[in-house]
Amino acid sequence: MRRILVGVSGASGMPLAGTVLRELAGRGDVEVHCILSAAARTVIAAECDETPEELLACAHHVHDPEDLAAGPASGSWWHDRRCSGMLVVPCSMGTVGALASGATRTLLHRAADVALKESFPLVLVVRESPLSEIHLRNLLRLRKAGAVVMPFSPGFYLRPKTLEDMLRQTCARILDQFGLEHDVRGWDASPRTVTV
Ligand SMILES: Cc1cc2nc3c(=O)[nH]c(=O)nc-3n(C[C@H](O)[C@H](O)[C@H](O)COP(=O)(O)O)c2cc1C
Repeated sequence: MRRILVGVSGASGMPLAGTVLRELAGRGDVEVHCILSAAARTVIAAECDETPEELLACAHHVHDPEDLAAGPASGSWWHDRRCSGMLVVPCSMGTVGALASGATRTLLHRAADVALKESFPLVLVVRESPLSEIHLRNLLRLRKAGAVVMPFSPGFYLRPKTLEDMLRQTCARILDQFGLEHDVRGWDASPRTVTV
């Protein structure tokens, strides 16, 4: 059983957070821990028909974002539980700034800080546009510190027809980062048979 910690911060993209949480929890081979920031609750209300509690219902463990004594705040929790890493989806520029500066005040920030210092995988599915110089510098700093920075950026070469298609495709790219199998195909660059 693998363990993945999913942070949900207050950026736009809550339908993607729901897709990823349901996919991870529904596989049967991943124990899903989740931390929802206070701002994420506001964004869920703006973007989703479901409540934060409904979105979190599939997670196996939900941690209070204000509880800095919770397990994920400590490096030993990560090692003892053999965590596979942490994902922040969607990841706001506020959270990016906190992580890049090391000034972590919530459990979500502290857990991501621990992932970096203990060299566990940290995947940040960032969402903001346009990006300021401050955002770009913070993202570069986090990349250099070992985080994977994945903008929420679906490819159109797979001809998505629905929002659901785009969410599943992005979710599959996130699973790739953790070496988890899925059935969403990627770009196949092999030559095509052209009928004339
Ligand atoms: C509806 C809504 C959408 C937002 N979308 C974004 C976004 O896409 N990217 C971002 O960086 N901040 C966004 N914000 C602002 C963040 O929620 C705000 O900076 C917050 O303090 C982030 O806190 P957190 O990182 O602790 O969750 C949005 C806020 C609201 C209310």
